[in-house]
Amino acid sequence: MNLFSQKAKDLFNKWAVDYHADGMEKGHINSVKQSFKYIPVSNGNYLEIGFGNGYSIEHIASNQYSNGKCFGLDISENMLEKASQRLGFFPNVHLETGNFITWHPPSGTRFSCIFSMEVFYYFKEIQAGIEKAASLLEPGGRLMVLVNYYAENEVSLSWPDDVDVYMTLWSEKDYKQGFEKAGLINIKQKRLNRQQDAGTLMTMGYKAV
Ligand SMILES: C[S@@+](CC[C@H](N)C(=O)[O-])C[C@H]1O[C@@H](n2cnc3c(N)ncnc32)[C@H](O)[C@@H]1O
Repeated sequence: MNLFSQKAKDLFNKWAVDYHADGMEKGHINSVKQSFKYIPVSNGNYLEIGFGNGYSIEHIASNQYSNGKCFGLDISENMLEKASQRLGFFPNVHLETGNFITWHPPSGTRFSCIFSMEVFYYFKEIQAGIEKAASLLEPGGRLMVLVNYYAENEVSLSWPDDVDVYMTLWSEKDYKQGFEKAGLINIKQKRLNRQQDAGTLMTMGYKAV
């Protein structure tokens, strides 16, 4: 039985138009910038799942993928509108709304990097999200999943009740095993931006060539 009355999409449609979306940028940007050190310059295709107000896709489109093509997907129409205000003039950025689990990229498009900050635990089945992302990588492409809600991060455990939205709780080991099960290789995990809490858990893996 789902004890949470609010859908993630409804929560983020509200957060896009109050102060929360910009607050998330402030709260997440240090972890995101630390993780971006692992992304090389590329002229390929980049995908961000759950771009929020667009700050992270703006950074990558201005730097490593300035000669590539950046796709962004978010389930919230209001986040799309907000992010489009800052990214509308970027010729190498294409944003759209949709649920990643059922979304399809343009025919034949595969990604050299798929990135996501604070999104995968909103999926009812995180494994389905990892496998979907793995299927959209080109050979040698990398998947980077960053989360602050995970079993070892005690301060995060009240979040589903705090915001009345379902979240799937996985541990650091669950994310590693999920990447392995999806066939990804050279898997690395790091805790980024550790301050009072356990930090942002980054799990990164590659599709075999
Ligand atoms: C916690 S916010 C993080 C936003 C941004 N990545 C950041 O660092 O501030 C989660 C974002 O993921 C989006 N989202 C949640 N579930 C999604 C899904 N199934 N498919 C695509 N986007 C989703 C939400 O609308 C929201 O913008």
